[in-house]
Amino acid sequence: MPDVVRDIAALREVVRDWRRDGHRIGLVPTMGALHEGHLSLLSHAFVSCSKVITTIFVNPTQFGAHEDLDAYPRDEARDLDMIAEAGGQLVFIPSVETMYPTEFSTRVEVDGLTDVMDGAARPGHFNGVTQIVSKLLNQAQADVAVFGEKDWQQLAIIRRMVSDLDVPTDIQGAPTVRDAFGLALSSRNAYLSPDELSIARRLNVVLKKAAYDIAASDYPTDICKAATDDILTLGFQSVDYLDCRDAVNLSLVDKLHKRSARLFVAAKIGRARLIDNVAVN
Ligand code: PAJ
Repeated sequence: MPDVVRDIAALREVVRDWRRDGHRIGLVPTMGALHEGHLSLLSHAFVSCSKVITTIFVNPTQFGAHEDLDAYPRDEARDLDMIAEAGGQLVFIPSVETMYPTEFSTRVEVDGLTDVMDGAARPGHFNGVTQIVSKLLNQAQADVAVFGEKDWQQLAIIRRMVSDLDVPTDIQGAPTVRDAFGLALSSRNAYLSPDELSIARRLNVVLKKAAYDIAASDYPTDICKAATDDILTLGFQSVDYLDCRDAVNLSLVDKLHKRSARLFVAAKIGRARLIDNVAVN
């Protein structure tokens, strides 16, 4: 079983000992309810690190007032078993009071990249993410931190923040892990009924076809509109966005011009809001 620490001093003590012994240290931040997607981040970290810290913290500041903070799935014992199986040596599980004592008053905001897509659909969400991730990076002082490409916008924002604030941790992205039908694994898939799950599994099919069509036609806007209609026809209640954007600066791409473009979607079905993204090439 991995060691579990719940306060910052204990985390720093382990990290100090590892440094003294010459280890290269990786960090994998999570909100728990782990699945194979999270474990792939640990495997990715182990490519260049000999020790990996996993953090489990359901960060209240990144949930909107009407979002699923209270309902978010939590199962510490199962998470620890999975981390043990993946070889993770240390798990940091702070309380809300440890992360946000009553006098806490600092904000960390990245402009621009947070205005679009999930930033527009979930006001304040990314401010919560950058606030907690900057704390975790400072607390762990790891050499490498790994984030999933499933949350591409989150990864782009974290890269921007780390570059702007000269944080000495190398931010690495790891590819999206999917089920056998192409559905991106997500802790929120647990909210889906069997019928909703079979509809959700078609989301990636529509997205991949649209990416293929865009690469062939060069004009994304009409194809994005048609794909949005397809997703609603499948049985999704709503589509927050389906956009073709530059992979790095997230600006809308209305003609391809060989820029590196990605297709991004967020859509709601039942109690779940699913996001996904694929390359256009
Ligand atoms: P969470 O949703 O638990 O995800 C933790 C990490 O796992 C993120 O980097 C996310 O991109 C990655 N991940 C999730 N599903 C994945 C999949 N199917 N394939 C590959 N990677 C996947 O993202 C968060 O938590 C939080 O915002 C956090 C960064 C921990 C800050 O609170």
